[in-house]
Formats: sequence, structure tokens, C-alpha cells
Amino acid sequence: MSSIDDALAAELQRLEADGLLRSPRALPKDALVLCSNDYLGYAVESVPLEHAVPAGAGASRLISGDHPMIAEAERDLADWVDAERALTFSSGYAANVGTISALAGSDDVIVSDELNHASIIDGCRLSRARVVVVPHLDQAAMADALASHRDARRRWLVTESYFSMDGDGPDLTALRSCCDQYDAGLIVDEAHALGVFGAEGRGLSHAAGVKPDVLIGTLGKAVGLWGAFVAGSEVVVRSLWNRARSFVFSTGISPLLASLIRRRLARLRGDDAARSRLAELGRHLRAALRDAQAAVAPLSHGPIVPWMVGDAAEAVTMSERLLERGIVVKAIRPPTVPEGAARLRITLHAKLTDSQLARATEALCAHRS
Ligand SMILES: Cc1ncc(COP(=O)(O)O)c(C=O)c1O
Repeated sequence: MSSIDDALAAELQRLEADGLLRSPRALPKDALVLCSNDYLGYAVESVPLEHAVPAGAGASRLISGDHPMIAEAERDLADWVDAERALTFSSGYAANVGTISALAGSDDVIVSDELNHASIIDGCRLSRARVVVVPHLDQAAMADALASHRDARRRWLVTESYFSMDGDGPDLTALRSCCDQYDAGLIVDEAHALGVFGAEGRGLSHAAGVKPDVLIGTLGKAVGLWGAFVAGSEVVVRSLWNRARSFVFSTGISPLLASLIRRRLARLRGDDAARSRLAELGRHLRAALRDAQAAVAPLSHGPIVPWMVGDAAEAVTMSERLLERGIVVKAIRPPTVPEGAARLRITLHAKLTDSQLARATEALCAHRS
């Protein structure tokens, strides 16, 4: 082993000793998977192709990778979230990192919820803006931070609309007025809300009648594909086309993906039945877990049901016991969540049958007793 390998192996051993080592693991056959973000159950379906579509874009969109099918998919995405324009990215990670670092600069201030996703954190860091991290969902702290940076070139407030590890979210109407009051741009990551909440799955901003200046959406969660998009005004999208490095210096999304997006969106928008079923499953599981005295995150709602455990090792043991019973629920540990806030993150999907939900509920509650 080289000295580099030795040093890396020692770091991995430390992670293992702290109970924080992750390794790939195949899911058991016929397992009940309650940890994916495939909220509508679309991702597992295979898709028959009716027409031949190019598989690759071949280059960045700015070079030769701009297929008409991509522009059509972007029109559909913009229409879905009621924005002027949308721009696709290869992933949500790339969308956040590229967008935030392109729009904010070193003379700006970004106010960021402490539980924002790693891709938002990395985008903030790359922007070189002054970043003020505020306690989770603390509107007063957000307003204070914006108020005390009136002299910055620009102010930004960035949040998720539905937090993926907590199943909660901010009052978007209040955040919009706060941003208006301090002339700040509102960036809302709707990764886990689009497809899940609101009529036609148009997300929590749309449901609240709020227009973010920049909306981030992923296609790998409820849409069940992969990739992501950013929606906003014409000028926001033109800025990103020119300045978002993860867009400019990266191959355009595949025209094949673009055609799948168009089909999938049409179906998803019409599938309010799946959204109602998902909401119903969430209500049932929460009620059963609370009856069994499980510490379900009190503000959580919707398909993400976090069971707060605290200790990382205990959360891992619980997840392993569930796995023995054929139920896959992951233990979420630091650094994904703060120290001492390890949890089981149970996520539901609309295709769960009543008997599958009963089986999962029984296994989860049995663990409790
Ligand atoms: C809030 C949020 N934004 C962005 C991403 C990244 O999306 P993607 O998986 O498409 O890279 C995630 C992924 O989990 C997320 O939870």
C-alpha cells in the first residue's frame, strides 16, 4: 500500500470506530424499501421507447449539445412551476452548486438555513459570499440577518421548501415578504416537494402562491428520472447559461432524458390520486408510530417520516434489525445530520399497499417494544 493509501485507510478506520463508515450494500430481493425518494413509485418502472432519440448531447449546451428536445422539456418544466424559463442541469447537486455560485458573489450576503442540503452549502461556499447560517426555520433570525446586511451588494435567502431529513419546511409566504422588505433574492430548493405537494405536484411555493426568484427542482426524486432544473425569470436563466460553471463546463442533459421528462411530467401532473394516497399513507404511519411512543419529528408532515433516535450506533442497530425483517430504512447519521440527531428516515411511496404498510408499521412498532 502507498503512503496515501495508508493515510486514507487510517481515516476510514476512524470513521468506522465512530460508527460513521458507509459502504455499498445490495438491497435484499423482495425487500420493502422505505428509504428512497421515489415518492410516486415511478423510478422503478421501465419505460418503453416509442421513437429513437439520441442518447447523448455530445458536448456542453454552449458548444454543440443543444438539442431541440431539451428546450421543449425546459418549456414544460417552466410551465409546471409557473416560471418564465427553466434550465436543466445534470443533477440537483450541480444545479445548486452552479446556480448559487453564479448568482451570488463576494460582495453579497447569503442567509442560509442551518439544515440546508450539502449542495446548497457547497454552492454558498463556492460563491465566496458572506454566508450567515441561521437556526432551522428561524424566520426572525433570517430577517435580522437580512436587516443587518443592507449595505451588501445583494442579499439572498436560501432554503429548502421541504427538508429531506426532517420532513418540515418554512412559511414560504413569510419568507417572500421578508425578502421583499429587505430587497433580497429568494432561492427555494423544491427537490423533495415537487411532484408530492400541491395540485399537479407543482410544489409548496406554488401551493402557497409564492414566487421564488430562483426555484431548484430535481428530476431524480418524485419525477423518478435523473437530472435537475432551475426555474426563474428569463434574465436568471440567461445568467446561468453564461455563468453557472456546472452548466457551462458540463455535457448537456441527454435528449433521451429530455423526452422522458416530457412524458413523465404529463403523467405526474395528472396523478393527484397518487399524491392523495401518499398523504394518506403518511397520516396512517405517523399515527401508528406516535401510538407506539416513537419520537416522530413533531413538525414533520408528508412522505418523510423521521424517527429521532439521537445516538448514531443505536440508529444503525435499529436499521439492521428492520433489514433482518426485510424492511429497508436507513439510519441517517452525522455529518448528514447534526451530532446527536441521528434518526431513522422513513420515506413512503404512493404504491405501497395497505398490507405492506401494515407489515412495515408492525416491524417498526415491534422494534419499539
Ligand atoms: C434538497 C436537495 N437538493 C438537491 C439535492 C441533489 O439532487 P440530486 O440527487 O439530483 O443531485 C438533494 C438530494 O438529495 C436534496 O435533498
